[in-house]
Formats: sequence, C-alpha cells, structure tokens
Amino acid sequence: MSGELSPIDKAKFVAAKRAVDYVEDGMRVGLGTGSTAAWMVRCLGELVREDGLRVTGVPTSSRTAALARDVGIEVVSLDEARWLDLTIDGADEFDGNLNLIKGGGGALLQEKIVATASDQMIVITDAGKEVEHLGAFPLPVEVVPFGWQTTKALVEEMLVSVDVLGRDTSLRMNGDRPYITDEGNYILDLHLGRIGNARQLSMVLNQMPGVVENGLFVDICDVVVIGYGDGRVELRDINEGTVETDRLEFVEDDNLFRDLTD
Ligand code: A5P
Repeated sequence: MSGELSPIDKAKFVAAKRAVDYVEDGMRVGLGTGSTAAWMVRCLGELVREDGLRVTGVPTSSRTAALARDVGIEVVSLDEARWLDLTIDGADEFDGNLNLIKGGGGALLQEKIVATASDQMIVITDAGKEVEHLGAFPLPVEVVPFGWQTTKALVEEMLVSVDVLGRDTSLRMNGDRPYITDEGNYILDLHLGRIGNARQLSMVLNQMPGVVENGLFVDICDVVVIGYGDGRVELRDINEGTVETDRLEFVEDDNLFRDLTD
C-alpha cells in the first residue's frame, strides 16, 4: 500500500509510473532491472491487464523476466525482437549529460545490450542519484571467471594512468562465493570516488582481455525521469534540451503494491 512506502520508494514509484506514459500500443520495450525498474514492470503490467495495451517486453535479467511474466507482459528474447522502440531502466548514478553508472544489481551486460538496441532509453530514478561527477558509486565491471585475479590486477594497474581518485577494486560476493551474473561471469566493483573521463575509462576497460563489459553508459540515455517522495516528477530530455515537471497522485492499488520483492 502506498501509505507504507518510504519517501524513496514513492519517488521510484512515481518516476516509473510517469515513464510508462512513453509506451505506446504495439511497442517492443526493454525492461530494466532493479527496484525502480520493478515498479515500472508492475505499472506496465497493469496497463496490459486493465487497458489492453499490447507490448512485447525484452527483460534485462532472469528476475525481471519472471516479474514481467507474473504481471502479464509477453516476454521475448532480444533476438526475437531484434530492435526495440524503448528501454526503461533504473541507474545507480547519473550526471548532467545523462551518462550513467549501472550494474549495482549485477545486470549491466544485458542492460547495456538491450538499451543500445533501442531507439530510446529512459532512465527512472530518484533525485539522490544525480551527481556532478560519476564515480562515488562503485563502478561494476563484468569479467570472465577464467583468470579473474589477473584481470583484476591488470585493471588496478590500468587505473594508475586514468583520471580517477581511488583505485581499490573488489570481487562482488554472494555470501562466501563470487556473485555470478546471468551470463555466468563475475563482477569487479571499482571504488573510484570520482571519474574524470567516463568515455575514456569505458573504452580502456573494454579493451582489456577478460573484461566483458563495464557499467558506464555514455551517450546511451535519452531521457531521465526523476521522481520525488511528494509525487513530483521531473523529465529531462537530453536530445530536445527540455525539462518538464509533473505531479502524480498516489492511488492505493493492491495489485501494484503487493508482494514486491525486487
Ligand atoms: C541493475 O544491474 C542496475 O543497473 C540497476 O538498474 C540499478 O542498480 C538501479 O537499481 P535500483 O533501481 O534498485 O536502485
């Protein structure tokens, strides 16, 4: 129930709710991963069930796929859909150019492939994730398990020559074992503090053997929808150079607010 939601969850919810307005009948939609994206999947499912909206969803993780099916969205693979009209996803950080850090939830590889295969990427977020410089949030880097310790050492060595504040790296764990992504890889979290040149860092990382992909999304996001705990929403479109504001009412809805686990 909305009365039990924290201000941060309300912010995530209103951003998600407003973002599904971008979805039109017949669209192929990339479905992001994380707690904000989960709200979006639920809102979209409601439109499918109650308004008869026809959409095909391409999930960015196994858990989003399960949720999407649960709420009534038809799920297909990216290869079946080929190209998408829109992807809606969360982010861990965004800057003034709508460059992002993603992958806190471990799904950065599929998220980046899906967002890049979309005409438009919309990021849904609360205001607390806006930063002047990316990098306070640890940058996730997906690496193949083979030789991961060598890859980690090479990444640390490489960081000496780029514009970052910190250089600590850690293997993401799931209890006492390495966290395994949907693609069977590991994640290194890079504690950089501040990233001076996100484009350069992203390119250098992706040239390293053993690195599969990194969580920097540079020039991929088109629109950010920022939610606030009081129902306000701000929409920034980087291509149009526009900023719009809106306000959403919280309507208690058992279907949307029940059993949210992501
Ligand atoms: C998943 O891998 C991430 O990229 C998420 O999109 C990001 O961590 C945002 O998650 P929340 O919406 O849960 O904050």
